[in-house]
Amino acid sequence: MVKKIAILAGDGIGNEIMEQALKVMRAMSLPLEYESGLVGGVAYAAHGHPLPECTLKLAKESDAVLFGAVGDYRYDTLERHLRPEQAILGLRKALGLFVNLRPAICFPELTSASSLKPELVAGLDLLLVRELTGDVYFGQPRGRRKSPDGFFPGAEEGFDTMRYSEPEVERIAHVAFQTAMGRKKHLVSVDKANVLETSQLWRDTMNRIAKEYPEVTLEHMYVDNAAMQLVRAPKKLDVIVTGNLFGDILSDEAAMLTGSIGMLASAALNEKKQGLYEPSHGSAPDIAGKNIANPLAQILSAAMMLRYSLDMPDEAVAIEEAVKQVLRQGYRTGDIWSEGCTKVSCSEMGDAVVKALR
Ligand code: IPM
Ligand code: MG
Repeated sequence: MVKKIAILAGDGIGNEIMEQALKVMRAMSLPLEYESGLVGGVAYAAHGHPLPECTLKLAKESDAVLFGAVGDYRYDTLERHLRPEQAILGLRKALGLFVNLRPAICFPELTSASSLKPELVAGLDLLLVRELTGDVYFGQPRGRRKSPDGFFPGAEEGFDTMRYSEPEVERIAHVAFQTAMGRKKHLVSVDKANVLETSQLWRDTMNRIAKEYPEVTLEHMYVDNAAMQLVRAPKKLDVIVTGNLFGDILSDEAAMLTGSIGMLASAALNEKKQGLYEPSHGSAPDIAGKNIANPLAQILSAAMMLRYSLDMPDEAVAIEEAVKQVLRQGYRTGDIWSEGCTKVSCSEMGDAVVKALR
């Protein structure tokens, strides 16, 4: 059966990088059907909402969503529920995408682009498993009010609620342990159990689920220490599992270790393996339309989509190998360029990957 992909390019550089990913997939003649929809600022401009009903419907009826990026300074002053970021949060919630896989891989050719010493990151290949539909991101109650107590009773205050239920932690724990089973069988669970009740429940649950995976070594780390270990000795980490907020922060840190956030893909999955795939970088409105953005994270997101949602692991590997080959051939977009390499545009990079596929 032909599988259906929703193409949501979004704002900023979204369109130009998406075009390259489509180019690559079309060159492989995959049995896929593509349908585009508007999301983010462009959707707000056309429909008055960053995640219009029609886009949500398209996403729900697709096997996977290939997502570009959202966000544009023109919409930064909108009320929070209309800001482009709400589109991504809305999709995560509506599709129940509770698993977020964020690989941080340091490609050998780009070792010197890292802000850390090359020997600390050469060969780095870690995977952050972030819970994506719970925590303080979605916890109720939240809001603004006159403070009922605290240091300044009666003052205006903002509040959010960090919360996780046991089943929410259990299901992400299973994903993390299974992921670890397929890798080095070493899992680090990150929390703040020395301070937070939510984290204590998280830790207890991880320990209980660990008994079902006796081959996996489970280690717990407080989030502040994890932030430090990531820059001290990142290669000692393999699979990390953590909640939504800590995962948001640590995944940006892990991405930066690799030298270019322009290279990193990510996946958000639900229990039916329906997924949303997006580059880890943002919409970069400052360089949009200039054909200079790095399309490799978008192309690698397509590869992740083939692997995790579409059961096409060989095709995923083919794309990943093609990307490695263009790097070996010395092609670089501006963000990863260094002396002696060939500087290429966004579309030339797409063409190079297509050529490397053959
Ligand atoms: C991410 C982003 C989002 C998040 C924003 C855009 C809502 O930072 O995917 O990491 O905080 O989850
Ligand atoms: Mg983030």
